[in-house]
Amino acid sequence: MSAVPLTAAAGSFEISPWSQHHLARVEQALSQWVGVDAPAGLGDAMRYAVLDGGKRLRPLLVLAAYEAVCSGAPGEAAPAVGAAMGDAALRAAMDDAALRAACAVELIHAYSLVHDDMPCMDNDILRRGKPTVHVRFGEAQALLAGDALQAFAFELLTPDATLIPAATQAALCRLLARAAGSAGMAGGQAIDLASVGVALNEEQLRQMHRLKTGALLQGSVLMGAACGPAPAAARDALSDYGAAMGLAFQVVDDILDVVADSATLGKTAGKDAAADKPTYVSLLGLARAQAHAQELLGQAQSALARSGLADTRALAALAEMVVSRSH
Ligand code: IPE
Ligand code: IPE
Ligand code: MG
Ligand code: MG
Ligand code: MG
Repeated sequence: MSAVPLTAAAGSFEISPWSQHHLARVEQALSQWVGVDAPAGLGDAMRYAVLDGGKRLRPLLVLAAYEAVCSGAPGEAAPAVGAAMGDAALRAAMDDAALRAACAVELIHAYSLVHDDMPCMDNDILRRGKPTVHVRFGEAQALLAGDALQAFAFELLTPDATLIPAATQAALCRLLARAAGSAGMAGGQAIDLASVGVALNEEQLRQMHRLKTGALLQGSVLMGAACGPAPAAARDALSDYGAAMGLAFQVVDDILDVVADSATLGKTAGKDAAADKPTYVSLLGLARAQAHAQELLGQAQSALARSGLADTRALAALAEMVVSRSH
């Protein structure tokens, strides 16, 4: 992993410099890669959808999980990808794989937002503090921008002339496809649309949220782990972390829709009740939804504790951010 400007001493971890360092890498890469040379205005719509906004939580999760698996077990020298693979060039290739995975997952997320906002779905006019892509560029261009971002995510994962092992490239594609498709985000969005005005029970709501939002967040963690040397037990624990944190993320999204204002959110507040969507707040009420988010945070933290990995501080801090965020 490239050098991170912060102290490595246990307990002294600060998420802010850590995330600023990685956010800069991700922004730079996205800006360099997205929409360049796309014809007929499509590139403008793609870049508008991806750049200048968003918390970039998913890329940070990829990079934090990669860093965690590279940290090895407590008390042992980090196994390091390079050691397992034999040389520094390969280690650099895995750093590149993790950065590509971080960007790819953000492209899928950005595409999901473009389509989620369209009139045929949530019909929203504000996203990331700007008019939504279909408002700015028209519906057809928004549809195509989403399509192109999705395709480009997989292109990014499979570069020409790279030392990233073919098996890693395939694993990343599979994890991302699984998280984005009918068993993940797209499937969850279908349940969401079919559930307008329907009083889902908690199990049904949990399933909808796990798919539409949790899957891509959990997939981000698994993709980061796939770029490094993780024993199966560590991967399983990271998967549990991702599941709990991913669900917590959408529980908090439901809460923020009720308690926050549009200026803070950068998207229209109060949409869920207005559209008669089942949410954790409509099901449990505000206080119990908040308590549930805390409970899920506890589950995420205990999964990290049993991962056997030496340094999970960034992942721990990101889970806390998911639950305590204001937008
Ligand atoms: C919003 O995700 C959509 C959901 C999955 C709930 P984010 O809150 O991560 O949106 P950005 O990327 O920061 O705009
Ligand atoms: C969206 O859920 C999940 C996606 C897959 C985009 P929401 O519809 O609640 O997301 P927001 O509130 O519009 O960001
Ligand atoms: Mg929606
Ligand atoms: Mg929406
Ligand atoms: Mg929402």
